[in-house]
Amino acid sequence: MTSPIKPPQEIVSTITKIAPKIYDMTVVSTSEEGSAALISRNAKAGQFVMIRADEEGERIPLTIAQTEAKKRAVRLIFQVVGTSTHKLSLLKPGDQVLNLAGPLGKPSEVVEGKKVLVIGGGVGIAAILPIAGSLYHAGNDVTVVLGARTRDLLILKDEFKPIAHRLVLCTDDGSEGRKGFVTDAMNDLVANTGAYDVGWAVGPTIMMKMCSEIAKRLDFPLWTSLNPIMVDGTGMCGGCRVLVGNEMFFACVDGPEFDGRLVDWDNLLLRQKQFKTEEADSFHHCRLENQLHSR
Ligand code: FAD
Ligand code: FES
Ligand code: MG
Repeated sequence: MTSPIKPPQEIVSTITKIAPKIYDMTVVSTSEEGSAALISRNAKAGQFVMIRADEEGERIPLTIAQTEAKKRAVRLIFQVVGTSTHKLSLLKPGDQVLNLAGPLGKPSEVVEGKKVLVIGGGVGIAAILPIAGSLYHAGNDVTVVLGARTRDLLILKDEFKPIAHRLVLCTDDGSEGRKGFVTDAMNDLVANTGAYDVGWAVGPTIMMKMCSEIAKRLDFPLWTSLNPIMVDGTGMCGGCRVLVGNEMFFACVDGPEFDGRLVDWDNLLLRQKQFKTEEADSFHHCRLENQLHSR
């Protein structure tokens, strides 16, 4: 009797804590038909996955930080902020990830031969890694600005060195690079070298809002990756509605990148907070359940 064919599984191959509360995880498929294999062959810069750790978990969106088709591998970098990211952080090499869907969203519009500015803040640094790489290899003049609260949170900086013509590091407390926010660096760069043809900024919502105000003043397009709460990630639930240029879009299928100059940031900030109480309760219970397992 022949043994039944096993369905493909998505397995954690590596998971490393790279900074306080920030994890670098690679998921691989057990066969070419698996989701990680499919994503690794098709993903482009700017796209994301929806991931679910286990039966009881919710799906959450994470940006695809890197792919390797030969290894059927997808690299995700996430910060623990609540229940689902905490559960992901407890996974170990060899553990199964229940669902991984993608690549989702529209890829970044990769220009050629332009003067571009790429800004990453906090865990948003991971999201701009593939964007900076694609822009560099497409022959653009790439300036990268990375910012974090403090030195330990300034992740992946060595990975940007080969894909940036200029790399500016900033920390709020001055523990590495220049002291101050990415917006200070952005203002100085523009004052010294003139406006950019196009830019990207990915990070905390308030950072993207402030960078967009500078881009608006200087009149150059700035792509920002919007992060409303997503449920299905496929345009079906309407949960990720955003207002851009007074029009309504679904960030999961129409974005996640939109020109920050046109985004209604206050509406986004408000919508992100709508489940704060439930999220806090859920995290409290989750930590109680897992206190013996926390790493
Ligand atoms: P919760 O306690 O449930 O939520 C904490 C906060 O996270 C909420 O207040 C809300 O603002 C946000 N959030 C909660 N649920 C969702 C959801 N379903 N969708 C979106 N935001 C949510 N984070 C990373 O660390 N790395 C990434 O690469 C990354 N990429 C993203 C790409 C996209 C397109 C989007 C929309 C978000 C991305 N995020 C990323 C944010 C990440 O999805 C949230 O931090 C995560 O869903 C929080 O889940 P939680 O259960 O741990 O926390
Ligand atoms: Fe449901 Fe975008 S997450 S429509
Ligand atoms: Mg949650």
